[in-house]
Amino acid sequence: MTNILLITSSPRGPQSLSTRFARDIAESLSARSGGAIIERDLGAVPLPHVTAAYIDGRIAPPEARTPEQIEAVDLAQSLVDEIQAADVIVIGWGMINFGPPTQLKAWFDYITWPGVTFRYDATGPMGLLPSKKVYLVTATGGVFSEGRNAPFDFQTGYLTHLLGFIGLRDIEVIRVEGTLMSPDRAMAAIASTEATIRAALERAA
Ligand SMILES: Cc1cc2nc3c(=O)[nH]c(=O)nc-3n(C[C@H](O)[C@H](O)[C@H](O)COP(=O)(O)O)c2cc1C
Repeated sequence: MTNILLITSSPRGPQSLSTRFARDIAESLSARSGGAIIERDLGAVPLPHVTAAYIDGRIAPPEARTPEQIEAVDLAQSLVDEIQAADVIVIGWGMINFGPPTQLKAWFDYITWPGVTFRYDATGPMGLLPSKKVYLVTATGGVFSEGRNAPFDFQTGYLTHLLGFIGLRDIEVIRVEGTLMSPDRAMAAIASTEATIRAALERAA
């Protein structure tokens, strides 16, 4: 059984391509293994942005935390617990102004937690989460994997770095890109992503 954590972050609801393809991957993995899907739709139910309650609360001794700090730290702990419980993580995000949605950034801001998901030692940073497969589904109106926009593909590197920083280094990036360039281009992009996902799932079988 493969337990799957599905994190989606598009604010576009049912129109979202990243959510559609991330969900496709999660459902295929679940159907194959009988594993459960735990879903967190950050687009529909955004996390609060990180505030001092979390930043100060996570370094305060538990017995000294204020009610706001307890709430913020408990939220972060529940997000980390979801990751710990999963065998595979599927993350969907669509580009908003050359970056991931702030809904996804907020998730990373909770889970990137010194002493819990990473620490520094004499050799540098060390991710503390156990390695597990991550599918990172990215949807972009333009093409960023090659061509003139490739130098502006900050976000894929940023997110793979963040995941690696907390120990999640087995990452497969699945792109659906160029969907706003023309209707034909969009149809071709969707067909190409479907084929990429089929191949990725076959490799994982
Ligand atoms: C507010 C907004 C900003 C966007 N900014 C960009 C951008 O900077 N570059 C780009 O290629 N596409 C951009 N897009 C297009 C989206 O990345 C594209 O529609 C993608 O499919 C969105 O992901 P989703 O389908 O999962 O919601 C933007 C879309 C919106 C709504």
